[in-house]
Amino acid sequence: MEQYIIKGGNPLVGEVDIAGAKNAALAILAASIMADETITIDNLPDVRDINVLLEAIEGIGAIVNRVDRSTVKINGSTIQNISVDYEYIKKIRASYYLLGALLGKYRHAEVPLPGGCNIGSRPIDQHLKGFRALGADVDILHGAIIAKSESLHGAHIYLDVVSVGATINIMMAAALSPGRTILENAAKEPHVVDVANFLNSMGANIKGAGTDVIRIKGVEKLHKTEYSIIPDQIEAGTFMFAAAATGGDVTVRNVIPKHLEATTAKLIEIGCEVEEFDDAVRVRASKKLGRTNVKTLPYPGYPTDMQPQITVALSIAKGTSIVTESIFENRFKYAGELARMGAHIRVEGNSAIIDGVDRLTGARVCAPDLRAGAALVIAGLAAEGITIVDDIVYIQRGYEDFEGKLRSLGAEIEKVSSEKEIRKFRLRVG
Ligand code: UD1
Repeated sequence: MEQYIIKGGNPLVGEVDIAGAKNAALAILAASIMADETITIDNLPDVRDINVLLEAIEGIGAIVNRVDRSTVKINGSTIQNISVDYEYIKKIRASYYLLGALLGKYRHAEVPLPGGCNIGSRPIDQHLKGFRALGADVDILHGAIIAKSESLHGAHIYLDVVSVGATINIMMAAALSPGRTILENAAKEPHVVDVANFLNSMGANIKGAGTDVIRIKGVEKLHKTEYSIIPDQIEAGTFMFAAAATGGDVTVRNVIPKHLEATTAKLIEIGCEVEEFDDAVRVRASKKLGRTNVKTLPYPGYPTDMQPQITVALSIAKGTSIVTESIFENRFKYAGELARMGAHIRVEGNSAIIDGVDRLTGARVCAPDLRAGAALVIAGLAAEGITIVDDIVYIQRGYEDFEGKLRSLGAEIEKVSSEKEIRKFRLRVG
């Protein structure tokens, strides 16, 4: 089992390049199978979730050719199997995007019910409601969702909750459903827009992505394209908070500053200086951080995927802060781990109340999920002494070469998998 070992205390300084957005890439890869021609996708992040989804896509018979670390070619003309294997879906929840993609293209899809990050119950009723409205019969049989239709058609669909996954999944199926679909109360996240742009580059007719109402005119088929994925706003935000928590000075490059506005606003509120360039953002933390309150919300609100990272920064800020989670019900599981590092944090319902302390101290902690895992690494970088983070497999799901990028900013962090390697690190850092 791999772990991170960290000697905290170094301010992070320098420049770091951000990879393509994992959550956009997952949907775009699934959507790639909807054409019978070769799709080329660039700026792909080299992370575990992406590699598993590519295996799932190969598993249904598509041709997947990884040209290099960040480029892949996919050809869906050879698909023979509309049933996705449980092995993949249990590893990544987002393989449910193959439901919308296969249903749209073949009018039939069989995908096991998803697992994924353990951050509370994550229903997919809105996805299924959308497919049904488009004319599909949807059943759950033996743990799998089976969606079938003789003839799909456009529909007027109102989502009961703002869901990124449902918006994208319905958009994919509707792209190949004859007639007009109007999707109301749609999610507005940058990756929803990216998927719509991608589908449009394949010949789809989707308008309004990025607003509450998405209008889709079904087309007969989709064709080849070459597409570059947008930068990962959550990876970028994670490095921005790592700079803040360590009193550092970091420029995150290859980003779209507009997508980072909620994060940037909070960093400024807690006393950081943030400078925006065309495709980069510089974060400087030259004084003790200040307190704030924050509530997670759908885009353009403060992202739930940035909630653990801000909590870590607030745990060493001056004063009392309240962080409220309004998207997922069980997203403070890391609070106990952070408390083991000396944070004064108590969770009441869906809020965490954090009394800032002077310093955190290194401890052995366990990553409970992807973003909380990254946040515990930030805590380790800011803490005095040595921190060991267990279960980093979660972190590897979504961060490309996390330790390498942090090291390039001056962090003392190693990936280790034995007591011997841990001893070696301790000896080296003294
Ligand atoms: C996506 C992201 C995830 C992020 C989340 C919110 C991917 C692969 N994952 O997850 O990193 O944290 O958006 O920005 O892109 N809901 C329902 N019924 C549904 C669908 C969702 O009740 O059918 C609820 C969920 O339980 C949750 C809320 O809607 O409370 C938002 O979930 P959603 O936006 O769908 O999240 P995901 O797409 O799963």
